[in-house]
Amino acid sequence: MDNKKPLSLVIFGITSNLAQKYSLHALYDMQQKGILPENIQIIGNARRPLNKEEFADFVQDSLNSRNVHHPHSIDNQVLEQLINKIDYLQGNFDDPNFYLMLKQLIKNPNIIFYLATLPDLYRNIFENLKLTGLDSSLRGWVRIMVEKPFGIDLKSAKELNKLLLNYFKEEQIFRLDHYLGKETLQNILTFRFGNNIFEPLINHKYIDHIQITAAEDYGVGMRGSYYDQVGALKDVGQNHQLQMLAFATMEAPEQFTNEAITAQRLKILTALKPLKDKIVFGQYQGYQSEPNVNPNSQTETFYAYKTFIDNNKFKDIPIYVRAGKMLKQLATEVSIVFKNPVKNLFVSHNLGFEPNILIYRIKPNEGIVLKIVTKKPGHKVELEPEYMQFCYKLDHHSHYIPDPYEKLLIDTISGDQTFFNSAEEVEAQWAFIDSLISQKPQIELYEQGSWGPKAAIELIEADGRTWLEPSMDFCKV
Ligand code: BG6
Repeated sequence: MDNKKPLSLVIFGITSNLAQKYSLHALYDMQQKGILPENIQIIGNARRPLNKEEFADFVQDSLNSRNVHHPHSIDNQVLEQLINKIDYLQGNFDDPNFYLMLKQLIKNPNIIFYLATLPDLYRNIFENLKLTGLDSSLRGWVRIMVEKPFGIDLKSAKELNKLLLNYFKEEQIFRLDHYLGKETLQNILTFRFGNNIFEPLINHKYIDHIQITAAEDYGVGMRGSYYDQVGALKDVGQNHQLQMLAFATMEAPEQFTNEAITAQRLKILTALKPLKDKIVFGQYQGYQSEPNVNPNSQTETFYAYKTFIDNNKFKDIPIYVRAGKMLKQLATEVSIVFKNPVKNLFVSHNLGFEPNILIYRIKPNEGIVLKIVTKKPGHKVELEPEYMQFCYKLDHHSHYIPDPYEKLLIDTISGDQTFFNSAEEVEAQWAFIDSLISQKPQIELYEQGSWGPKAAIELIEADGRTWLEPSMDFCKV
């Protein structure tokens, strides 16, 4: 495939919340680092009528708005350079004339269509791209980036896969889950398979259990109309958290290739056991009064469940997964909790039974750390917990963690699908989630700033274990 030829990037829905929050920031970062391909043409589409100045203001406002992923300030010169690269084309995505105008505007042989729109519009977009001949390029390639949520259940995901494959070949389709593009998640593979000393411990002989947490200390904000339709499990559980689980538990791929890595992720996703009576749903108090949320909403803003992986390596190891909004702390991590030795020399001391924990911290205080006990300096034999740690250097000058959207855009440009979902993978994720909630759990209210409903605590305590309080004692910036 020719990746050297000039490229046109067409963003459908450039005024959407998604584009404002993620895509524009990723493009800005790329412009700033000088890694946007030379001769790239960016075309932003939306229904809103905006003239050149109004569009420039829109981009500027979007980039200057508060964003947890981009805390750094915006340089006006870089902003101007980026704005000069974007053409804004207003139109209705169901209007065939709009596609004729788009065709005239596209000047490069290689084309990426990035869909940041509502999925209901996909069929119209694909059909019109085909009618205008924009679904393929005689002089280069065409790729399509499709955002999550990829359907609302297994049935709709299968239909969407079928629809996409009617118009495009699998190698043209880039199904996005931005967690797959996270540097901190990808590093799990390097840590596990690039070092020789840890992987021999990652199995049922040494591991007691695994905990996967995605806790946010904020609510739904202005995204109520989307979130209330979807709920926590489909918003982050069907995708991001299952990928965290897969990265932490998959077997070593034969090679570092798309096929080999995706196949190993898929093996985990299809081996997950849904336990219908081991799932809890919660909703934070006050959620029903959030903007654009149904005042009688029964949508979950929290879930916790227990599962197992049905394979030899993780035989009988419980995996506890939880995620929610308005919780006590912001923390996304995977914790591998190791077994205590049967014979422990320090059993009669304080912390004598403190387990070792390997933590992959996705955010904040990003890093990979091993919780250990050490001897407290002094004349007595006393133990104290410590962390052996690898931390990212986050000083925003010489070091940075690339934004996942930036990484995934670069991968799409080079045609690398390793960190995108295959059709089978997305379907395996939905198959698991659908059976997990075939009897929808009752919603239990929880206090804002807590760790979720009581039932979630009982879920793990019934097994004689407790949820780990994510530590902020390591990798402090
Ligand atoms: C998005 C969800 O996909 O992921 C949000 O829609 C969630 O609800 C977000 O907050 C979490 O992503 P990140 O990158 O902030 O960890």
